[in-house]
Amino acid sequence: MKFPSDFVWGAATSSYQIEGVEPKHGRGDSVWDDFCRNSGAIKHNHSGVIACDHVNRYRDDVALMKKMGLGAYRFSISWPRVMPEGVGATSETGLGFYDRLVDELLAVGIEPWATLFHWDYPLALHHCGGWLNPASPYWFEEYVGVIIDRLSDRVTNWFTINEPQVFVGLGYGTGEHAPGLKLPISDQILISHRVLQAHGLASRTIRERSKTAPRIGWAPVGVISYPATDNPADVEAARKATFSCSRENVWNNTWFDDPAFLGTYPEDGLKLFEKYLPDSWQRDLEVVAQPMDYLGLNIYRGTAVRAGADGDAEHVGLPVGDPRTAFGWEITPPAMYWGPKFLFERYKKPIIISENGLSNRDWIALDGRVHDPQRIDYTARHLNELGRAINDGVVVNGYFHWSLMDNFEWAEGYDQRFGLVYVDFESQERTPKDSASWYANVIKTNGNSLDDPATIIEARPAPITRSAPTKKESK
Ligand code: FCB
Repeated sequence: MKFPSDFVWGAATSSYQIEGVEPKHGRGDSVWDDFCRNSGAIKHNHSGVIACDHVNRYRDDVALMKKMGLGAYRFSISWPRVMPEGVGATSETGLGFYDRLVDELLAVGIEPWATLFHWDYPLALHHCGGWLNPASPYWFEEYVGVIIDRLSDRVTNWFTINEPQVFVGLGYGTGEHAPGLKLPISDQILISHRVLQAHGLASRTIRERSKTAPRIGWAPVGVISYPATDNPADVEAARKATFSCSRENVWNNTWFDDPAFLGTYPEDGLKLFEKYLPDSWQRDLEVVAQPMDYLGLNIYRGTAVRAGADGDAEHVGLPVGDPRTAFGWEITPPAMYWGPKFLFERYKKPIIISENGLSNRDWIALDGRVHDPQRIDYTARHLNELGRAINDGVVVNGYFHWSLMDNFEWAEGYDQRFGLVYVDFESQERTPKDSASWYANVIKTNGNSLDDPATIIEARPAPITRSAPTKKESK
């Protein structure tokens, strides 16, 4: 198995999940601040107030990334940290933070990959109608302009928006995520439409205003059906299921990716949802389909299917006692072969795996280290499948592990540990897990170490040492 020599090996985080609020920044509230304070919906009433205190410890965190040999780091920018009211005035302290983070990364040879929106929507704009307001795409465009003017001399890789399916579905449908609304599907569709417009306007702004040649994509969640066997009928059924938009919810690929990459909504989706779109929807779509450089895919798991009597997909149940992550998510590595393959074939854009990983019950063992063979095995299985897709002609430019470090996992609070680096949330001490050293070796060998299954368990690499105690920054 060979990964291309310029393959990007990275890890990912997002602003609200790691930064901490830091009152000195004059940051505005996001819907997540408000949701954590008031909804009672977060496990143990946790919040992102301190999170990983990354805003004060980013230098140590970048030093750890360097020790792991990361080639790239995907982080997100907190909109209300840089524009407290969402539009209008900017915060110099907030912008300065991202300036310094980017400089620190570049100084040690790590490519910054910035996500412009990973769910921490400015509360002030939410109070003005949020994503339901027809002006909302233009608010986002204004914010993106500020970021591009500030960072595009040094940042060239951009994701506009992370997982529209999740923040629309959980934030405005089931109410499990901020802002905790339970709106009917008609409103969720209208919001999705505004989000697509925002993506288009943002992409255009990045392209037009960047000081260096940008590369642009977005990071939807890949909703993957994969065939239970290689039988062509099963493969076809899986492909159809992956591209269908035939249920009254936002959990699909094509309602989002077709407009962004093909300039149209899918026909089956229009049958269900056209009635909820504004009259101007066709005109609105003109701005949505901007030239894209890659398609980011967040893939954690998929659904096994086979062809039923009519050729349509039928779910194939997983065996009793099947492997699961600590979150209870099924472990389904073939999703990492079929997902990139199907989506590459439809949209013909290079794929970036913008997130993949698992939560695990990690703790510090008596020997002072964090042993997480499940994370190593899960990641190896998924990278093997990704390598197989590459060998079969799918163009994949990079892989970002979720996550660099344990962090605030939304409604789960701090219960789900996704990191390559263990975080003690009381002391803020970081301890790289075994998986961090293992991943460092994968990176060093450009994936060739994956050919030797023994490296997964037996040849446990030397630990990456813990970070030194951190000093708080004065700024
Ligand atoms: C994805 C999110 C990310 C993280 C992982 C586990 O849906 O993009 O922020 O929560 O799941």
